[in-house]
Amino acid sequence: MLRQALRSGLLAGRALQSGWVASEAVSKRSAAPSSAWLRGFASQGPAIPTAPHGTNYHHAPGADGYAFYMPRESLIGGGSLEAAGARIKMLGLKKALIVTDAYMAKSGAVNAVIEVLKKSGVEAVVFDGAVPNPTDKNVEDGLALLKQHGCDHIVSFGGGSSHDCAKGVGIVATNGGRIHDYEGVDVSAKPMLPLISINTTAGTASEMTRFCIITDTSRMVKMAIVDSKCTPTVAVDDPLLMHKMPPSLTAATGMDALTHAVEAYVSTISTPLTDASALHAMKLISSYLRTAVADGGNAQARDMMSYAQFLAGMAFNSASLGYVHAMAHQLGGFYDLPHGVCNAVLLPVVQEFNAQAVPHLYIDMAEALGAGSGLPAERAVPAVLGAIRQLSADVGIPRNLKELGVKPEDFDVLAANSLKDACGFTNPRPASHEEIVGLFRQAYEQGEDAAAATA
Ligand SMILES: NC(=O)c1ccc[n+]([C@@H]2O[C@H](COP(=O)([O-])OP(=O)(O)OC[C@H]3O[C@@H](n4cnc5c(N)ncnc54)[C@H](O)[C@@H]3O)[C@@H](O)[C@H]2O)c1
Ligand SMILES: [Fe+2]
Repeated sequence: MLRQALRSGLLAGRALQSGWVASEAVSKRSAAPSSAWLRGFASQGPAIPTAPHGTNYHHAPGADGYAFYMPRESLIGGGSLEAAGARIKMLGLKKALIVTDAYMAKSGAVNAVIEVLKKSGVEAVVFDGAVPNPTDKNVEDGLALLKQHGCDHIVSFGGGSSHDCAKGVGIVATNGGRIHDYEGVDVSAKPMLPLISINTTAGTASEMTRFCIITDTSRMVKMAIVDSKCTPTVAVDDPLLMHKMPPSLTAATGMDALTHAVEAYVSTISTPLTDASALHAMKLISSYLRTAVADGGNAQARDMMSYAQFLAGMAFNSASLGYVHAMAHQLGGFYDLPHGVCNAVLLPVVQEFNAQAVPHLYIDMAEALGAGSGLPAERAVPAVLGAIRQLSADVGIPRNLKELGVKPEDFDVLAANSLKDACGFTNPRPASHEEIVGLFRQAYEQGEDAAAATA
C-alpha cells in the first residue's frame, strides 16, 4: 500500500508503516533474475544491442498505473529569472512573501528577485528566516509574516532549505494546524498557496518536487512530507544564479543530486520515465561536477549541473528515494549536518548493500557514470561503487561519518528513526534495524584503512 501511495498519491502517510513494504521488496527480490538473463535488464552498451532502454524494465507493472509528478511549468536556462515576474503576473497574483535565508538577504542576492517582481507590478515582503535544514519554527515564523501582510502567494529564493520552508508555509496557510500534521504521504486536503520557486543550488531539485523536509525541533527528526500538493506552481532554474556557489556547496549539492539519481534508479517504483531521467542525470553529473567545483565561473558546467539536478528531480519526484536519504535525514536532524555531504558519505555504503539484491541495475549505472560500458553485473557493481567514491574524493567530500562528528552511541536511535522515514520505503533491499546500524557503522569507518595504509 505504501508503495502504491508513493506512486499514485492515494493514501495518507500517517497510517503507513514500513512492514508490508519490506514484504513486497522481498517478493521482488525473490523474483530476481537468474544470471542468464540479468543482462537483458541493461539498456546501454554494446554487449546488449537488442535491449533498448525501457523494453526490459526492471520494475513490476503497476496494478493501477504510475503517477509522474511535475510542476505545471518550469523555466530553465540562463535568464529565466527575468521571465518569472511575467509568469506571476499571468497567474493574477499581487503580493508575494519571498521566503529565503539570511545569507541570500544580507548578500543582496534577493534584490534581483524583488526587482523582477516590481517590474511586473507584484508587491513583495521578505522573510529571510529559512535556516539550512529548515525547522518547524521557521515555518511558523514565515506563516505569521504571510498572514500579517496578507500575501496571496509565495516566492522561494535559494536552495532546498528556502523552498522546503516555503512549502511548509504554503501548506499550513491553506490547510491549518501545524506542519507536523502533514508528515507522511499526501496528508493535506487542500492545495497550498501558489508557489514560485527560484532555485540557486544544483541541487536538491526541491524547486520542482512534491517533497518538503522540515526538522521537528522537539524530536530532532527531519520530517518527510511527501505531498503532490507541495509541488511548486512554477520552478525557475537559472544557472546564472548558481555561479557564486562556493566549491564546498557546489560539491555537496552536486552529490545530493547524484544520490537522487542513483536512489531513484534502483527504487522499487521506478519507471522508464524516471530511469531515463536518472541515467542522464548521472551522465551529466559525472561529466560536469568536477569542473563546476574547480571553476565555479564555468558557464557550461553550471548550465549542465542545473539540468542534471533537475533531471535527478524528475527521477526521484516520482520514483522516490531509498535508505541513503532516510539515514541522511536523521544525521541532518540530529547533528544539523549539510544534507548533500551526509548523502555523499552514505551513498556508496548503501549501494554496496543494495547491490546484493539488484546487481543487474548496476550495468547501466556503470555506463552512465563513465565507469565501463556493457560490463557484466559482477564487474559493474564495483565499477559503480568506485566511480561514486572517486567523484566524492575529487570534489572534497569528507571520507566518513567520524570526520563529520557523528557519535556511534547514537546509531541505535538514528537507525530506528531511519526505518520510519518515508524516503526509505522504496529501497530495493529491505534492511533490519541491525543492518541499518551496520550501515551507519560502515559509513563511520570507511576510508580509515586506506588512510592508515598511506600514513
Ligand atoms: N524537498 C526536496 O525535494 C529536497 C530534496 C533534497 C534535499 N532537500 C533539503 O534541502 C536542504 C538543503 O538544501 P541545499 O543543499 O540546496 O542548501 P541550503 O538551501 O540549505 O543552502 C545552504 C547555504 O548555501 C547558501 N546558498 C544558496 N545558494 C547559494 C548561491 N547560489 N551562492 C552562494 N551561497 C548560496 C545559502 O544561503 C545557505 O547558507 C536540506 O534541508 C534537505 O533536506 C529537499
Ligand atoms: Fe536530497
